[in-house]
Amino acid sequence: MSVEPNPGIVALSPYVGGDATLAGDDALTLVRMMSNENPYGCSDLVKHAFRDMSSHFALYPSSSHGPLRQAIGEVHGLSPHRIVCGNGSDNLIHMITQAYVQPSQEVLYTRHGFLVYPIAAQAAGGVPVAVPETRDFHPDFDALLGAVTPKTKIVFLANPNNPTGTYVADGAVWAFREKLRSDILLVLDSAYAEYVEAPDYDAGVRLADAFDNVVMLRTFSKAYGLAALRLGWGYAAPSIIQTLEKTREPFNLNIVAQVCGEVAVRDQDFVAFSRKNNARVRTWLAGEMDKRGYAVVPSQTNFLLWHVGPHAQEVYDHLCHHSVYIRRVKAYHLPHHLRITIGTQAQCQRFLDVLSLKKE
Ligand SMILES: Cc1ncc(COP(=O)(O)O)c(C=O)c1O
Repeated sequence: MSVEPNPGIVALSPYVGGDATLAGDDALTLVRMMSNENPYGCSDLVKHAFRDMSSHFALYPSSSHGPLRQAIGEVHGLSPHRIVCGNGSDNLIHMITQAYVQPSQEVLYTRHGFLVYPIAAQAAGGVPVAVPETRDFHPDFDALLGAVTPKTKIVFLANPNNPTGTYVADGAVWAFREKLRSDILLVLDSAYAEYVEAPDYDAGVRLADAFDNVVMLRTFSKAYGLAALRLGWGYAAPSIIQTLEKTREPFNLNIVAQVCGEVAVRDQDFVAFSRKNNARVRTWLAGEMDKRGYAVVPSQTNFLLWHVGPHAQEVYDHLCHHSVYIRRVKAYHLPHHLRITIGTQAQCQRFLDVLSLKKE
């Protein structure tokens, strides 16, 4: 007789990331615009800090992440006691569902929300519930409230959302929290917060300060350009942080992530540089797409969602054939769309050039 995994795990399909066959391609001509990574790399100060790190490799890293939490707290004006760090924000999403969801409890997320939410919910034995969005890809708060049942335990809301790139204003999120039952945890995933330019946006600090049932999640994988180091953090009321600390693996952050993360968060000039260039190239690329009659969803992030139509797979294959990698979003129930990460202007120009080859 074989050993059976938990029922939730049996039913799971694993997360599939964006593909770029690096080994087969010429790394110099390859255009990686599929995983919302930072095309400008990371801060020079981080590269410098990394240089001599091998002398620390024989020792266990800090299990409390004290200096890193201190640095995040100082830069964002937050108490380090309300911060928890994870091996990427994915790690925190799993920690939260593990700590709060009991078997058969429900986890709500928007229909085109980040795929890790239903995976984490199911892995914890819970039931993921996808809630329809508005026609323009925004959360439908009435629909979310309508989907709440006595079994609802968590609502995940990515703001801005991946893969739609849309955001919701602070006031709307606040009003939603006020209407949501107080024994339901609201997780605001602000992975793309650094890129947002809308003045009525708040990443979630205000809400997490005011309510003891809100968690804000952040990542170093996007604007900080440290996706490979796996580093994310959460901000919430002390009671939530203490709960998450109970199940956190003691050494979930390696020494490189801790030291480089501390240096990175203190280098806000690099973040400003990333934000500025992203906004410039995003505006330019959206304009170029528009000129060509291609419909993209207005974005506050480092990617654009493009409505291609029924030939989305064909366009995707054509781009891959020329070593330009963007992202299929079929798994997000968007089979006619593709997601384009905002690369450098040269990468985006190459994307447009390769696209035009197909039209001819
Ligand atoms: C909305 C959202 N949340 C979380 C993550 C995960 O980020 P991390 O690299 O910190 O695990 C991503 C990654 O693409 C994302 O798009």
